Amino acid sequence: MPTLLEIGRTHTCGDLRLSNEGERAVLFGWVNSRRDHGGRVFVDLRDREGMTQVVFGPDVDAAAYEAAQALRGEHCIGVAGKILRRVDNDGNPNANPNMPTGEIELEVDSFELFSKAETPPFDISKDDRLDTHENLRLQYRYLDLRRPSLQRNFILRSRLGTITRAHMSDLGFLELETPYMVKYTPGGARNFLVPSRLNPGCFYALAESPQIFKQLFMVSGFDKYFQITRCFRDEDLRNDRQPEFTQIDVELSFATPERVFEVMESLMTRLWKDLLGVEIPTPFRRLTWAEAMARYGSDKPDTRFGLELSDLTALTRGCGFAVFEGAEHVKGLCLPPEHGPGYGRGKIDKLTAFAKKRESGGAKGLAWARVEDGGTWQGGSAKFIAPELQTKISAEMGAEPGSLLLFVADSFETTHAVLNAIRLQLRDELDLLPSSGPTLWNFLWVTDFPLFERNREGKWVSSHHPFTSPRDEHVELLTRDPGQVLARAYDLVLNGNEVGGGSIRIHRADVQAKVFEALGMSEEEKQAKFGFLLDAFKYGPPPHGGIALGVDRLSMLMAGADSLRDVIAFPKTQKGQDLMTQCPTPADEPQLAELFIRHRALPNDAASDAADGDGKT
Ligand code: AMO
Repeated sequence: MPTLLEIGRTHTCGDLRLSNEGERAVLFGWVNSRRDHGGRVFVDLRDREGMTQVVFGPDVDAAAYEAAQALRGEHCIGVAGKILRRVDNDGNPNANPNMPTGEIELEVDSFELFSKAETPPFDISKDDRLDTHENLRLQYRYLDLRRPSLQRNFILRSRLGTITRAHMSDLGFLELETPYMVKYTPGGARNFLVPSRLNPGCFYALAESPQIFKQLFMVSGFDKYFQITRCFRDEDLRNDRQPEFTQIDVELSFATPERVFEVMESLMTRLWKDLLGVEIPTPFRRLTWAEAMARYGSDKPDTRFGLELSDLTALTRGCGFAVFEGAEHVKGLCLPPEHGPGYGRGKIDKLTAFAKKRESGGAKGLAWARVEDGGTWQGGSAKFIAPELQTKISAEMGAEPGSLLLFVADSFETTHAVLNAIRLQLRDELDLLPSSGPTLWNFLWVTDFPLFERNREGKWVSSHHPFTSPRDEHVELLTRDPGQVLARAYDLVLNGNEVGGGSIRIHRADVQAKVFEALGMSEEEKQAKFGFLLDAFKYGPPPHGGIALGVDRLSMLMAGADSLRDVIAFPKTQKGQDLMTQCPTPADEPQLAELFIRHRALPNDAASDAADGDGKT
């Protein structure tokens, strides 16, 4: 007699339907649950595709029935038998409407126990009702990954990759690989370093992106490149950031922003249609960076709901209210009458405390007022502002009687950061998001970013990277007024998340020289950092540009997950640790000696942190 393994699986646990009634099937999987009932044993058998009820009866196969009584959750088994319609004791149909396979069950006449499982540290059958601490789930990640909700995320992610490859290849893009171990170039994200045994004292950096290599592919004439590739950045981690993450990286020659947008919009609409069955209208909406900041206070605005900001800077000049008078920017948002009255003093105080937090932008305070009939104010800042000005501000903010006005007066950065944080906080507190309809997936291109920003020391640095092209008409501003130069750079934003970013690159030596000059780079510095690229650009570089999309973020949003950790199979915690393999680990002396590296004493707190492994996520 061949074993079940030799016969092979005929169906997955998600396949069988009433149309299969009377057929035979062989299923393999894990015991999700077991019930003894009316002299029979019922097992929900689970594999990555779903769950099927299988039934063991003493009258069908006594040995299998006996063995089934000893089955426990997560034992791995094989079963064969006949597919029956599920009926109750009186023979009436008795389907389980909560299972796609709920109309049938498999009556087992052949059974094999592949392996037993110890009692797992958490109950996998609870799936998304599980309330186990995430650290324990990460420690036993291979069991966590058995949960159907996570398996669905990874099936989706796998298909996202397959469709992307097919789509990009249909559009004539070549999938080309670039190195992970690269030259260290300071300036961008902090790099992970890899010591070189063969070159004592020297280090590779792990690539933070294939940026320079994909530009060199354009010089080489590959014309259209893409790659689904891993990137490494030693950043502070958050729910939407991992130290190693995956990009769909794209570059094309003879590019304009429009051409990049077209390619990306076609890929996004294809992914949403094939994976979620959703038609996304194109072209995607566009906002300049300046408009996004002005109206939403963010360069990745969530445009699924209103609560736009009003600029009151000019209106409040000379108003006599010290909080407004001294500030570079005065802006506010208006909570309409259906929500305003619900915000009493207690809630306003809480919102004020929230606005003052560092993560919210660190406001000095939050001014407020309630709007009465005629547009005048009551409460909060009302006593500091003349009634005529109150009415003007109310009108500017589109306020109605019952509206609650909230104001922040500060620098450009703080005013916008705080009002953006408050806007998103109100979104969540008041449940302002649509649950269906066309605004469910809100794609947006944010364009015309400033080319430079000032770093902490007040020096101009590239907002993106130094090869980003300025707008043609701004080239002459490069040396005269760098702060005014806008870049041919764009971000793709989805529901308030930055899911992609890119730009048209500089391909002219004279423009590149001016950008380096604006960045205050010396000749030696240019040569040391980017000499090879500048050399390459001496040999007929085509005009080119591209973009990179964050695969983890896209998967997270498509899967409806809250954290990247739900779409990365083996993620790191906030401290960059893998709790399953207990990594990173110290290197021992012989390993370090081979690399010509010597230990320095760890600061006390770092040593105890490393030993504890706090594993915060
Ligand atoms: P950028 O740095 O904007 O651009 O990255 C592109 C996209 O990658 C995602 N992303 C991340 N996802 C998870 N964890 C992280 N730590 C992380 N960092 C970035 C984001 C982001 O929009 N070379 C350029 C692209 C180009 O100019 O073509 C680049 O890497 O979704």
